[in-house]
Amino acid sequence: MGALDSLLDASVVFSFDRSGFRRHARRFVASDLQVSLAGKVVLVTGANSGLGFAASKALAALGATVHLLCRDEARGRAALEAIRGQLPSAQLHLHRLDVSRLADVRRFVEGFHGPVDVLVNNAGVLPDTLTRTDEGHEVTFATNVLGPHALTKALLPKLLVAKGRVVTVTSGGMFTQKLELDVLQGNVQAFDGVVAYAQTKRAEVILSELWAVKQPDVTFSTMHPGWADTPAVRSSLPTFYKWTKGILRTPEEGADTVVWLAAAPRLDGKSGLLWFDREAVSTHPLSFTKESEADREALWALVESATGG
Ligand SMILES: NC(=O)c1ccc[n+]([C@@H]2O[C@H](COP(=O)([O-])OP(=O)(O)OC[C@H]3O[C@@H](n4cnc5c(N)ncnc54)[C@H](OP(=O)(O)O)[C@@H]3O)[C@@H](O)[C@H]2O)c1
Repeated sequence: MGALDSLLDASVVFSFDRSGFRRHARRFVASDLQVSLAGKVVLVTGANSGLGFAASKALAALGATVHLLCRDEARGRAALEAIRGQLPSAQLHLHRLDVSRLADVRRFVEGFHGPVDVLVNNAGVLPDTLTRTDEGHEVTFATNVLGPHALTKALLPKLLVAKGRVVTVTSGGMFTQKLELDVLQGNVQAFDGVVAYAQTKRAEVILSELWAVKQPDVTFSTMHPGWADTPAVRSSLPTFYKWTKGILRTPEEGADTVVWLAAAPRLDGKSGLLWFDREAVSTHPLSFTKESEADREALWALVESATGG
């Protein structure tokens, strides 16, 4: 990497934005995605919108059978039809799944028959007020952490058979956060949605690292997409969107590393890493954010207990 690239990457803005993607894309290896995923089964949560939609479409274009897991039947159906409109022979299936509800995760997995090669934990939220699900969990925590953990765990037997992959979409927002379990669960005096979100994204990365150690036959990856123009950014971060809308990545650019992590053959053997634009990156560019081993174990115990492990 040249000095100018290092400087631009250190700026964050010119790394997370679309100029960063296009600069990083110069080092991509085109043959990585010249693969056929025919016969592979991929599940994508939050597949009806933004990055999940873009990833689902790209994976279907590579020949995968893609299961769109969406919380709203009509939005899911519209997404499926939109992909089919562009890819008439795409192998697509729609399932209703609200990942924030553990009972719904159980219902979905019990009714899902057949193999799973790749699970993409993409669905995510950034609410600005503290709300709890009917199961009693703060909504950001339930959607971004507990549901994906329960889904990963329940699908593990299938993923083990396939020596499959789990790709979880985190966020660069987590770089500023040190794990704090009380904040993560919404046990706070004053709720800050951006902090709560970043805590869940930090937790996703730690859990993926822990999964990688516990289950070496499955490849666990997290990726952050930089800044992409999606409905979530427009509605959850309106001020940020106002200032950055001219430089945001497209959803396809934001989802590129998801597709690469799901499909690229040369990933085999690399598990538990955080990726950005197809490169493994540090999970702690700011050293004060490093959690202790005890905190990591406490996080695992917390999610196991909350998901009925
Ligand atoms: N865009 C960015 O710049 C950016 C940056 C960092 C990280 N991310 C991450 O990227 C992922 C995708 O976000 P996006 O930007 O593509 O936003 P998006 O377009 O709003 O997509 C979010 C998806 O998640 C779904 N979802 C939310 N709660 C759900 C639940 N309880 N059960 C099932 N699905 C649920 C949404 O469904 P509905 O349509 O029904 O609401 C939607 O399909 C998220 O994890 C987000 O944190 C995005």
